[in-house]
This record gives sequence, structure tokens and C-alpha cells, in this order.
Amino acid sequence: MEAQKENILEIKNLHTWFYTGNDIVKSVDGVDICLKRGTTLGIVGESGSGKSVTALSVMGLLTGTRGKIEKGSIYLEGEDIVRINEEKRRKLRGGKISMIFQEPMTSLNPIMTVGKQIVEGIMEHQQISRKEAKKKALEMMKKTGVPRAEHMMKEYPFQLSGGQRQRVMIAMAMVSNPGILIADEPTTALDVTIQAQILDLMNTLKKETESSILFITHDLGVVAEICDDVAVMYCGKVVESGDVRSIFFQPSHPYTKGLLASVPRLGEEIEELESIPGNVPNPRELPKGCKFAPRCALAVDKCREEEPDFFDLGNGHLSRCWQCGGQT
Ligand SMILES: Nc1ncnc2c1ncn2[C@@H]1O[C@H](COP(=O)(O)OP(=O)(O)OP(=O)(O)O)[C@@H](O)[C@H]1O
Ligand SMILES: [Mg+2]
Repeated sequence: MEAQKENILEIKNLHTWFYTGNDIVKSVDGVDICLKRGTTLGIVGESGSGKSVTALSVMGLLTGTRGKIEKGSIYLEGEDIVRINEEKRRKLRGGKISMIFQEPMTSLNPIMTVGKQIVEGIMEHQQISRKEAKKKALEMMKKTGVPRAEHMMKEYPFQLSGGQRQRVMIAMAMVSNPGILIADEPTTALDVTIQAQILDLMNTLKKETESSILFITHDLGVVAEICDDVAVMYCGKVVESGDVRSIFFQPSHPYTKGLLASVPRLGEEIEELESIPGNVPNPRELPKGCKFAPRCALAVDKCREEEPDFFDLGNGHLSRCWQCGGQT
């Protein structure tokens, strides 16, 4: 049996709420996630389920929003980073933890050449000379496979293609050897061929640097390709998690089953594709009981009354469903 890998990141009972006018939006409402060292964990779930807010909570990027971590802990190598000061947090960002966003244009500085941006990033976290930082930046750019890396260092973000910008983002994120990379839909804006190249690149760099990745995506095909483990989110909670094989071949939660049934498989008629009826509930008025019950064909009274905790299905496979616990 393979030795148990330690958790590099552990999110426990995380609650991140937004205070908007008279409302409280419970975007993240009790998330539990464990990222094992050297592995890739996929976070999947429909739009609005709280994937990005979970990532922003880990990065400490809620300042400037009305969001607040209400409860819970985020352990980075055993240290709870929810309540550290801003100075320490700034050091973590781009140091031990880096993030790649869906649309790189919004996270690259439009008026600074890409070379300068990478160099500044390096110098913020590493005690090295500008000359050394430039050398490192160039090496990293070459690794990402951008054509004519030297030349590209002198260009501005708007002069690059979407795929090139995403490579620059990856170079920036990986250049300080972060232990953890959070990738929030990094390939959604790209066409399929470029998407495959970017995934390849992330996999190669991950192996080289031995980093661990939290990979947020809508795309279960991508999950099957690059993830070791999966956490399925619904209404601000993880409803099922486990290794990629268990989730794909023995899904337990009706929501996970619904998601899988809505993915086209090779050779299958597209018309037969199912989709989950109904919509994700409004996070301002979450239902009592299991949040999926209003859309679940198997729901019974208990599901509408009481929210299930995780049932342990063995081998680290967890599911929040009364049915799988044989409790209804
Ligand atoms: N700054 C904010 N202020 C108020 N509500 C917010 C804010 N950011 C996110 N939310 C709300 O939190 C909920 C979760 O949003 P989040 O962006 O985490 O979803 P997501 O799972 O990443 O969706 P997608 O797949 O569309 O990216 C949504 O209902 C969203 O409207
Ligand atoms: Mg998102």
C-alpha cells in the first residue's frame, strides 16, 4: 500500500459570507478540503457553488470585498492562516501559495511589460539581485514554451494571445516555487488545443517543482485527466470527495451522479445527455436540510429537514447524503 501523503493544505469547516445591504450571502458555508502534498485536487460544481470564494479565502484576497471568513480554519503545513496579519499574508501570496485566474488580463498589470512583472514578483519574495531575477524570469518563460521568450519579456499583456498570457501567468505563479498552486478555471477562456497544451505544461511544472495544485473547473473531462482527488461543491459545501476513481466510477451523492450524467462520453449520442433539473438555490435563502434536496429525485422528508454530515465510505471517500449512509 502506498504511504499516506501528508496534507499540505487543510480547509476545515470554512464559512465565508458576504454582507450586502440587508442580506447575508453564504457563499462558503462549511467547506472541508484536504490537499495532499504533491497531488492535484479538483474542485468541481455548478456556477455559484462557492469554488472561487473558497480560493480567494485561502489566498486572503477578500479585502476590498464585503466578504469575511466567519468561521473555520485553513491550515497551511499545520499553521492556521485565517487569522495571520496582512504582512504575513502578503509574503505567503506568490511565495508559498500562488494563484492563476481564469482571465489573465484582469490579473496582469496592463501597463508593465510581462518581463518586468515577473521580475518584480521574484524580487518581492526572494533576496536576489535584479540581474539574477531577470535570468530566472527568462528561464521560467522558456520553460512555459512561449515562442521567442526574450522578445516576449519586453511586450505588454495586450500584445499577447490568450494562451500566451496564460503561460505568462503560469510563469509568474511558478517562478517562486510555490508549495501550492491554486488554478481557478485556468483554461476555460482558451480553445481546446491550447487548453490541452496549458494542462500539459501545468503537469510538467508540477512534477518538476513537486508542488500541490488546487484545480477549480467546471470541466469533468479535465478533472479525469489531471486530478488525483476530487471535491464536489454544492451551495457552499463539499458534498462528496474522494480519489478520482471513486468519484468517477462509484459516485455516491445524487448531485455528483447528476454532474457525471451531464458529461458527454465518447461515442454517446449527445441528445441523451441528462442535466440536473432545477437551479442552484439562491445563497441568500438556502433551504433547510440537505441543500440539494429540492432537486433530488431520491429526497425523502428527512433530507428536507436535517442536513447530513459526511458518511465515510472507506478509502477517504466521503459523501454528505442520508441515502448513502443508509439512514432513510
Ligand atoms: N464580492 C462578492 N459579493 C457578494 N457576493 C459574492 C461576491 N463574490 C461571490 N459572491 C457570491 O458567492 C457565491 C459563490 O460565488 P463563487 O464566485 O465562489 O462561485 P463559483 O463556484 O466560483 O462559480 P463559477 O463557476 O461561476 O465561477 C455566488 O452566489 C456569488 O454571487
Ligand atoms: Mg468561480
